[in-house]
Amino acid sequence: MCGILGYSGERQAAEILLDGLAKLEYRGYDSAGIAIFDSEHNKITVEKNKGRLQTLREKIKNNNAQLSGTCGIGHTRWATHGEPSDTNAHPLWSDDLLVVAVHNGIVENYKELKQELSEKGYTFYSQTDTEAAVKLIDYFYRENNDPLSAITSAIKKIEGSYCFVLLFKNNPGEVWGVRKDNPLIAGQGKGESFLASDVSAILQDTRSVYYLDNMEIVKLNKGDVRFYDSEGHAVYKKLSRVTWDSQAAEKGGFEHFMMKEIHEQARAVKDTLRSVLKGEKFDLSESGLSDENLKAVSNIYIIACGSAYHAGVVAQYVLEDLAKIPVRVELASEFRYRKMPFEKNSLAVIISQSGETADTLAAMRLAKNNGIKTLAIVNVVGSTIAREADNVFYTLAGPEIAVATTKAYSGQLIACYILAMELARARGELDNVKYCEMVREIQKLPEKIDEILDEKERIKEIAGSFIDADGAFYLGRNIDYAVAMEGSLKMKEISYVHSEAIAAGEMKHGPISLIERGMLIVGILTQKNLYAKTASNLIEAKSRGGFILSVITRGSEFLHDEADFIFYIPETDEHFSASLAVIPLQLLGYYVAVARKLDVDKPRNLAKSVTVE
Ligand code: G6P
Repeated sequence: MCGILGYSGERQAAEILLDGLAKLEYRGYDSAGIAIFDSEHNKITVEKNKGRLQTLREKIKNNNAQLSGTCGIGHTRWATHGEPSDTNAHPLWSDDLLVVAVHNGIVENYKELKQELSEKGYTFYSQTDTEAAVKLIDYFYRENNDPLSAITSAIKKIEGSYCFVLLFKNNPGEVWGVRKDNPLIAGQGKGESFLASDVSAILQDTRSVYYLDNMEIVKLNKGDVRFYDSEGHAVYKKLSRVTWDSQAAEKGGFEHFMMKEIHEQARAVKDTLRSVLKGEKFDLSESGLSDENLKAVSNIYIIACGSAYHAGVVAQYVLEDLAKIPVRVELASEFRYRKMPFEKNSLAVIISQSGETADTLAAMRLAKNNGIKTLAIVNVVGSTIAREADNVFYTLAGPEIAVATTKAYSGQLIACYILAMELARARGELDNVKYCEMVREIQKLPEKIDEILDEKERIKEIAGSFIDADGAFYLGRNIDYAVAMEGSLKMKEISYVHSEAIAAGEMKHGPISLIERGMLIVGILTQKNLYAKTASNLIEAKSRGGFILSVITRGSEFLHDEADFIFYIPETDEHFSASLAVIPLQLLGYYVAVARKLDVDKPRNLAKSVTVE
């Protein structure tokens, strides 16, 4: 979703903002813009357009636009209110350019605000919700030229979620920011400072950052960074150090971030395992999960969106089987509006790569408000979900840039397996011998993932046959069904092939009528006791013309003669098989997208971090 940047320092701001915005492109956007404050001539210049950042760069170059100034703001927009257009692109301004701002989020009461402001003589030129907020801030700023009191007054009236970054004409050199339910960090450099919606945008300049809390306000003036609460009182904040390597956000020789991240999965799994492995045992005490706490849990809600939800579905099967504990896995966007009775001793497990997904955050708050303990499985350190959850288990996948998640999903699976093992052990459902065996086996996953990647060319070859595919089914039972969901999502989100995951037993209840000659049917078989059942569903699909592509655990004889293509994966403990079975499915989605010459890392209409409902 939208990316935001601010800079105040001694260097020319335009280049810094354009380079930083390029680092945010992966979040998904449809227009881009910057505003530069030339303090010498007391002039703010805005350049913006619909389309790619490259178009903005070229426009600036061709217009010979004089964007001189050492202070500015930048934005990549993902349209919510108002179509993608030059006019609706950010920055937006008040009529006399007294206030210029960029915004992430949604101003929910923008219609009422517009109405009120129109009565005060304001006119509106865009279709955005943002413009109403900018003009409201302008209205208060005109009272006494004080940005802090203008912001504090305005946020009392603005409803919704937001992160605003602003320039005020009569306060040269200053960049202001405020956030509510949308991420904003401040970066501290030497003689300069930054604001960003995402740490990867400023990593090349500084690793020293402040994480803003909800309703906090920040002011940059060169190297000086100050914070205020929503009433305008000064707030002291602690500086944190980002340990991510900025190299980790580069393609490193791969054609796409997605392929690079697919190859980083062994490392993501290893790092996540190591972070909680103490000797021969896992130790979740840093995540607040002592044996006593684990024993007290009566049931589990897993809450997430997208691929994180799919990791949750895997976790549901594993947790129920290993720890014998009831689990409900819920889409956050549904959970947040359910009117359900909560079990008092429940644990809510919130899974999110970004830690900023609006629905997931709201669902977590709902659980907390109902007195339920929350454990967040999150990849981005310092994200809102990580900070608001009672306890956090970090997946150590590093920065993930491709919109379609791969390594973060793999990290989430590992965190879920460990949680299941620890619950099972603490509750006496897993004896020591079996536990130690599983600890040894889980550590072999990175090696096995790499073994699968060594055979990626086989998937590439077969993917070429599906350039013109118009539909695909992914079938499986139990954990294999959960993997089918993720494989199917990978196919549809980057290849734009309509694809559905189907619990294999449901085929006969409708979907089978859609099978036509050559339709791709992907079968996943990793659970021995279910091989025969899923195999017969696949054979039924084949006899109706389907092309059967199977992912099967090595050693199985099933489908040997019937499948059109078999990809064998190494044997492992069946509870962990999703970590291996998903790899060929990620590769399949990737290679079909590449064969169709699509923008793999930035699929149309999608965003990496969905910070609005
Ligand atoms: C978006 C991304 C998905 C992700 C989902 C949930 O749709 O494109 O890859 O799974 O959001 O995001 P989260 O950051 O909460 O895991």
